[in-house]
Amino acid sequence: MRLNPFVTTLALTFSALTSLSAQAQNTTPIKVGLMLPATGTFAALGSMIESGFKLYVQEQGGKLAGREIQYFKVDDESEPSKATDNVNKLIKRDNVDVLVGTVHSGVALAMAKAAKDSNTLLIVPNAGADAITGAMCAPNIVRSSFSNWQPGYSTGVVAAQKGYKRAMTITWNYTAGNETVKGFTEAFEMGGGKVMKGLTLSFPNVEFQALLTEIAAQKPDVVFAFFAGDGAVKFVKDYAAAGLNKSIPLFGSGFLTDGTLEAQGAAAQGLFTTLHYADNLDTPRNNAFRKSFALTYKANADVYAVQGYDAAQILAAGLKAVNGDLSKREALTAAMHKTTVDSPRGKFTLSPAGNPVQDMYLREAKGINNEFRGVAVKALADPARGCKL
Ligand code: PHB
Repeated sequence: MRLNPFVTTLALTFSALTSLSAQAQNTTPIKVGLMLPATGTFAALGSMIESGFKLYVQEQGGKLAGREIQYFKVDDESEPSKATDNVNKLIKRDNVDVLVGTVHSGVALAMAKAAKDSNTLLIVPNAGADAITGAMCAPNIVRSSFSNWQPGYSTGVVAAQKGYKRAMTITWNYTAGNETVKGFTEAFEMGGGKVMKGLTLSFPNVEFQALLTEIAAQKPDVVFAFFAGDGAVKFVKDYAAAGLNKSIPLFGSGFLTDGTLEAQGAAAQGLFTTLHYADNLDTPRNNAFRKSFALTYKANADVYAVQGYDAAQILAAGLKAVNGDLSKREALTAAMHKTTVDSPRGKFTLSPAGNPVQDMYLREAKGINNEFRGVAVKALADPARGCKL
């Protein structure tokens, strides 16, 4: 067949032009919207996530799949009532390509809704709200951290194995606290224990005295607590100051002692928790990460830094699969979901719903480290209740 030279030239010109425009687009920076707490009880957590994310990007020479990364930032204050307005600053005003956030489950639920409505990519680097990779699951949403159910469940397994029968729980009355306690209760009661009573106070209050008095009066075999950040520091100190650490073992999801041990001091020593990270995991990957983090920030990494670092790794995996071309959305999100993340916590994959399938470690607080004491539950996958993809 003879080709009409005019048509061939036109076709060639057109394809040259489209590939030029794709190239031009691929030389502009990728806009990453960091929505994290910079103030309030979770401020330190937000800062560690940001440091971890930026560390990975810096280790790649400041670019992912050949494209510069440009950051836009909003302080979400861990305030759900401001969350929709805040996330829309990043989506509508700054026009970001990908959202990274946040710490607080209530704020993250609003982010997930906005991400779904606008089809913006969202990587959740902490908040465990079960629905994000449950009923609200979507191809454009993944999580680099955990579901609230996971550390609650694995701590329940351990507490039951230790032979405790009567537990009390204590937490803030909000999504993360309630779902973590639910996970704990599920495993603890399946293992033969019984949760006698659940105590709560509203987020982010730290007036624990009346609740500690009630624990002292009821004398359970074990207490399970979910608190994090500054609230966790105060709770662990108050528990010890009330003398309860001498009589009633305190267990928690690892957030109770992660990023907080320096401030908690003697009060936290010997506490057992479970989480998907332990500071002293003696692997080349974790050692290299901790060294790089310490050199860059003059501070010790914690689980939040790991989750930020891994959020960047998941984004990088997606971008690599499409050569940095964000218009290839389906291939990009598929690659993000399919990646095996070479995390400082150990390699992990994502479930179809986009949540890490990961080993949960038993840790003990020693000095300023949460030390590895064993695997509490291997390759724990969130049940992703309500997820229809
Ligand atoms: C949450 O709100 O989901 C949350 C906050 C802090 C943590 C863990 C979970 O350390």
